[in-house]
Amino acid sequence: MTSVAGKTKFQIDLRQHLRDQNISGNLVHLICEIAEASKYVINAVRTGDLGVAGTSNLYGEEQLALDVLSDRIMRKRLQHSGVVCNIASEEMEQIFQVSSSPQGMFSVAYDPLDGSSLVDVNLAVGTIVGIYQGADLLQPGRKMVGAMYILYGPRVSLVYSVGKGVYEFTMNQLMEYTLTRENIRMEPSGNIYSPGGLRKKYSPENESFIKYLEDKGSKLRYSGGFVPDINQILIKGKGIFMYPALNDSPNGKLRLLFELNPMAFLLEQAGGLATNGEIPILDIVPEGVEDRCPVYIGCREDVEKAGEFLKGAC
Ligand code: F6P
Ligand code: MN
Repeated sequence: MTSVAGKTKFQIDLRQHLRDQNISGNLVHLICEIAEASKYVINAVRTGDLGVAGTSNLYGEEQLALDVLSDRIMRKRLQHSGVVCNIASEEMEQIFQVSSSPQGMFSVAYDPLDGSSLVDVNLAVGTIVGIYQGADLLQPGRKMVGAMYILYGPRVSLVYSVGKGVYEFTMNQLMEYTLTRENIRMEPSGNIYSPGGLRKKYSPENESFIKYLEDKGSKLRYSGGFVPDINQILIKGKGIFMYPALNDSPNGKLRLLFELNPMAFLLEQAGGLATNGEIPILDIVPEGVEDRCPVYIGCREDVEKAGEFLKGAC
């Protein structure tokens, strides 16, 4: 167990850890505000109404009451943080401008409650967040200054990076986030695979890649929640998640700004890789906040192998 200034790492809380990272006070404040908001989201998940809201999001998907509530919790916290100029959410139609002066400020893209339809069957869900310097949200993900997710499972964990490695914090009995893993690293190749989407809509190349993974001894591990599925691969350090182009949806399902960029940032920071089958997710220039994209994300060699299968080289 490491010790910082006489404290074991299990006693280091998020704010204290962030202050030691040599980042701006505004960024420390922003990450702590998001962490605070997550405490209200987990409360909503644990006790809130499981019904529909009667509205739809920017993808035309039916919103649950929990989607709408989680979005309000996040948006209000960001809006009053004093350090945010623009906000984009998977649950909002348009970019929400908080301030028109971007100096020293951040813009935030988030999915307030990914996997919300899994709450009624009591599976894990999460919040995903990407943080950009200034006002522009339509930048390649590599320009992010920070990314994080909060996983609401049997325990609540928060995983973040500001480009200085990946750290995991876990909520304690006082609802404080304390450091539980530092400098998380991924193996070059893994033994778990998480394939999203209907297999009968996969291309032959994607099918061959699945066969390759099974032949090399990879086990199927798919919950249907992006946050827990990615968390398993990242924390175990071994595996690949894919949501490929499908016959009837060439861009797959997952959203570049709200889901893929933050996860790609975190996994690259841990030594992994995320591509759309051709180029790194983090190099894609978004055309709109609603963009979707196929994804292969996880251990570097496995993701590279997916690219070879797609090119027909295997
Ligand atoms: O937000 C999209 C999402 O719910 C993710 O959490 C999950 O990875 C994916 O959809 C599951 O999609 P499917 O049911 O098509 O495999
Ligand atoms: Mn989502």
